Amino acid sequence: MTELILGRVLDLHSDPFAVPVGDAFTLHEGVAIRDDRILAVGAADGLRRDHPGATQTDMGDALILPGFVDAHMHYPQTGMIASWGKRLIDWLNTYTFPEESRFGDPAHARAQTDTTLDLMLSHGTTSLSSFCTIHPESVDALFSAAEARGMAVMAGRTCMDRNAPAGLRDTAQAAHEESAALLDKWHDRGRARYAITPRFTPTSTPEQLEALGTLWAAHPTCAMQTHLSEQVDEVAWVQDLEPWARDYLDTYERFGLVGPGAMFGHAIHLTDRERDRLRDSGSAVVHCPTSNTFIGSGVFDMARMKADGITTGLATDTGGGSSFSMLRTMAAAYEIGQLSGTALHPAQLLWLATAGSARAMRMEADIGTLAPGSAADLVALNLASTPAIAQRTARADDLWEAVFPTIMMGDDRATAAVWVAGKRWTPPHAAFAGS
Ligand code: GUN
Ligand code: ZN
Repeated sequence: MTELILGRVLDLHSDPFAVPVGDAFTLHEGVAIRDDRILAVGAADGLRRDHPGATQTDMGDALILPGFVDAHMHYPQTGMIASWGKRLIDWLNTYTFPEESRFGDPAHARAQTDTTLDLMLSHGTTSLSSFCTIHPESVDALFSAAEARGMAVMAGRTCMDRNAPAGLRDTAQAAHEESAALLDKWHDRGRARYAITPRFTPTSTPEQLEALGTLWAAHPTCAMQTHLSEQVDEVAWVQDLEPWARDYLDTYERFGLVGPGAMFGHAIHLTDRERDRLRDSGSAVVHCPTSNTFIGSGVFDMARMKADGITTGLATDTGGGSSFSMLRTMAAAYEIGQLSGTALHPAQLLWLATAGSARAMRMEADIGTLAPGSAADLVALNLASTPAIAQRTARADDLWEAVFPTIMMGDDRATAAVWVAGKRWTPPHAAFAGS
């Protein structure tokens, strides 16, 4: 069954950090999808001629993009998003660990996965990479819920064997065994991808990092996700814990946790050596702008990261991040860019939220793109979703001026429609009425 979706189809086929914006995109009138795949983008007449008998869905003026890709989030923190008044380490101890302790209960894990995935879809996010908790139940719950929705989701059991409460601590051996069992069960099952997930060096001993490095070496098509250099105090703590290390990245590098498929969340306070290693090893960093301001972490320099040639994704970091929305996340990235002296172009922001994150996850052939043969994961955005946005968009002289107010001021009300693997997503109830 072929469907033509008509609207303003924005194909960001090239990296607008690497080529002039004008060369990075093509605007089409429609996209043809069949089953779970994109067949073609092009002019409406041409698509109708090439696909006679296709059903047509006319989205009017809506902007049609690949579904957003959130390259770093914590679904178990959905229930404690927007918790007041702490910085990273006391925020983890006060709010995060007590909430994560509840995920050994499959019913709780299931309820939180359903809530999170429906919130993500209602904001136009069709793929994500999530940390789970130490409980295998939390991993099963997320992959099952993603499978039920047809979503391409990456996730892993969060491993911690020190500096965490008893109920959230494992050992090097348990981390290896339980991660291995989950990886065998889920990696490459349908659209699921496993990410080996040590939380960060303060909560993983060298023995645990070594065990997970060994596991990754045995399963190199998996991803590896963790945190790096988010706050100055955290970097100093890592130096205290591991005085042998040249820097924070070295605590991962020593155990084989740096390389293609590695995704380092935050990566704000880096040395030159760390930048060189991140680039030369083919690792990725993930910018989490709403989190970096919410927890008070610091200013990520996107322009320098891209100039240094480091693969960079974009993410909410829910619930250190204060939003489920990749629109809000792009807005925060723009604001932080201004603080470091760069006005990121709307094309660059949209590219980071789609192809950039997909590249960080090594899934760019399937998601974050409109290339023929890739997955039919799409979002249609209403560029006049509120009176405040509509009055600004009405004055727009070009595409980017029409898009930027929605990036800066939009929320789930801008989501006009979402397709996951070619199927139109139906909001589960009226609370998700934005779609
Ligand atoms: N560093 C270690 N764990 C976390 C987490 O859950 N959230 C954030 N923002 N940083 C972390
Ligand atoms: Zn995180």
